[in-house]
Amino acid sequence: MSKKIRLVVLPGDGVGPDVSRVALDVLRAVLAGGRHELESEDRLIGWAAYQAEGTPLSDATIAACLEADAVFLGAVGHPEAEKVSPALRPEAGLLRLRSALGCYANLRPARAYAPILDASPLHPEVVSGTDLIIVRELAGGLYYGKSRETGLGNRRRAIDTEAYSVTEVRRIAKVAFDLARARRKIVTSIDKANVLSTSRLWREIVNEVAAGYSDVKCSHMLVDRAAMELVLKPKSFDVMLMSNLFGDILSDEAAGVVGSIGLLGSASLGGKTDLYEPVHGSAPDIAGQDKANPIGAIVSVAMMLRHTFRLEKEAGKVEAALDRVLASGLRTPDVAGRAGANAGTRAFGAAVIEVLAAESRLAVARAS
Ligand code: IPM
Ligand code: MG
Repeated sequence: MSKKIRLVVLPGDGVGPDVSRVALDVLRAVLAGGRHELESEDRLIGWAAYQAEGTPLSDATIAACLEADAVFLGAVGHPEAEKVSPALRPEAGLLRLRSALGCYANLRPARAYAPILDASPLHPEVVSGTDLIIVRELAGGLYYGKSRETGLGNRRRAIDTEAYSVTEVRRIAKVAFDLARARRKIVTSIDKANVLSTSRLWREIVNEVAAGYSDVKCSHMLVDRAAMELVLKPKSFDVMLMSNLFGDILSDEAAGVVGSIGLLGSASLGGKTDLYEPVHGSAPDIAGQDKANPIGAIVSVAMMLRHTFRLEKEAGKVEAALDRVLASGLRTPDVAGRAGANAGTRAFGAAVIEVLAAESRLAVARAS
């Protein structure tokens, strides 16, 4: 069956446009010559949107995203943004987008790539074989609880609240267990149940859900211990299930373990439109310099093909092309390791596209 794919691209700030360009080119390359038609539209988010439209995310952009089949986002954030009110900052645009789309399940796989193991600060034997996925609750928790400030001067107080309902925990837990079934069948649920009541509810509901998945091994780990185990024994984890805040923190740690924040992609699912974004930020210091690692963006494209469009074969092709390019020795500066960097954003992306193009030429030749 041929599909029409309607994509909204939100390049955003800093290196966002650099990696979004590569992502879209990779998507076009893998779909080229196939039956699926891609229609994409660029829109603004973050600081770029604030500058042009006076808001980090306009209603019109939200409407366009809700109409689309999927949204690809580059990155948001700008050093100047600290000067504007919190509600107008780039991050507020991103949080508003996630909430408007309703995507509550954020998947962040972290994989150690054999050719760039030395980009990790850990011993190669510790990091090698790491293949885990963080399932981060994305629509609730501390990020969306009531927050306010009271008092003046020395009496000023700032308050953020964390709330989780049974329904919110149950639905994200199901996502983790379903994913585990297609992987190594191990779920580690991470919380702070020795201190927080949200975590105690979380643990109770995860246990309830786990009872329906007798083929999946479920265990619980306190977040402080998990932070340590992640550097000591990263390959002991398969699916790591956690709240919004813990997921934000541990996904950066997982990125550090495998060598670079530039390596991680993500999918945010479960809402009206699926959202795909690399885990890295806007990295303003290297924006527009052809230095950003496009791997996180490319991985996000593979996830889009798999989760939204159910094009498993195409997703596999993108991942295989990425592996081939890494095996050929190409490395961006963030994963330079001992060999040193030898590619920029564009050259790395072009190499992945060339592998995909060569494959489709081969397929055409075989068919004729
Ligand atoms: C992430 C980012 C965001 C988050 C920021 C930019 C709001 O750190 O996607 O991990 O905290 O969710
Ligand atoms: Mg983060």
